[in-house]
Amino acid sequence: MKKYCLYFVLILLLIPALVFAGEGHEECALCHGAHTAIGPGLLTTRPDTTTINPATSGPLGRIDSICMACHAQEPNGLGYRPVSMESTHPCGIKPVKIKLPSEAKGFKGEEELLTCMGCHDPHPSNPNYMYLRGPKVSAGNTQAFCVWCHPEQAGLN
Ligand code: HEC
Ligand code: HEC
Ligand code: HEC
Ligand code: HEC
Repeated sequence: MKKYCLYFVLILLLIPALVFAGEGHEECALCHGAHTAIGPGLLTTRPDTTTINPATSGPLGRIDSICMACHAQEPNGLGYRPVSMESTHPCGIKPVKIKLPSEAKGFKGEEELLTCMGCHDPHPSNPNYMYLRGPKVSAGNTQAFCVWCHPEQAGLN
């Protein structure tokens, strides 16, 4: 009986993680292929080369073009939970006013840039809401996340 109680408590403890964790990227093969890669990082996604980034007035950078291949509206992307670059926080840019936390720095070749992956770690190992990096936050309460890069606006420095 005691054993079952323990399992019950464990399940209860898991519920918040299930409710708040990112959803949709559970399968590695969604983005990587062992034998079918078409780009660095064993990535299989054909990048979005059509969308223009209003923050740079140019095409998307390497990482952003991979995310947008699935997350841009059709026909530029596959339209999964579509995000529009027009209404997205500045992305694919080199910060001038703030200093990026080291965890938010860009990947190979884009180390100086804030990319989609500066705010999101898209891996299933990331237990956070919306695959966000930085402090753990939940729906409707993302302030601590913003303050991670913008402490000045919260009066913290
Ligand atoms: C091969 C397609 C594909 C690629 C590439 C991809 N995603 Fe996704 N993503 C999905 C799908 C499918 C979902 C789930 C959509 C749904 O729930 O309707 C999703 C969901 C998400 C969510 C929402 C998670 C939640 O809990 O609701 C975020 C955030 C996200 N993706 C960010 C990214 C970022 C950042 C990148 C680039 C590093 C990326 N995605 C690349 C297919 C992709
Ligand atoms: C939504 C897309 C997506 C999914 C799903 C995904 N990855 Fe990734 N992964 C990426 C991207 C984008 C990169 C960065 C590649 C680069 O910089 O070249 C990456 C990088 C990696 C790296 C290199 C890490 C590093 O620090 O250089 C490994 C290893 C990896 N992924 C393994 C996995 C495994 C294993 C899974 C499944 C458990 C998985 N990925 C699921 C998109 C994804
Ligand atoms: C990973 C770091 C990071 C996080 C997290 C972050 N920001 Fe930013 N933010 C930046 C960078 C970089 C800039 C560009 C400013 C610069 O050049 O230093 C910026 C710019 C801005 C701007 C100015 C936009 C413009 O067009 O001039 C606003 C407003 C803003 N962020 C709000 C937010 C909000 C709200 C959140 C939480 C949802 C957030 N930021 C989370 C890094 C971040
Ligand atoms: C400054 C940080 C920041 C950057 C940069 C950023 N995101 Fe996000 N993203 C967020 C936050 C915060 C949320 C959760 C918003 C909420 O639920 O309040 C989110 C949510 C999402 C979602 C889920 C949208 C939905 O309808 O549920 C997707 C998909 C996504 N981001 C993809 C991307 C892609 C693709 C890029 C790059 C083009 C990107 N993000 C760049 C912070 C960021």
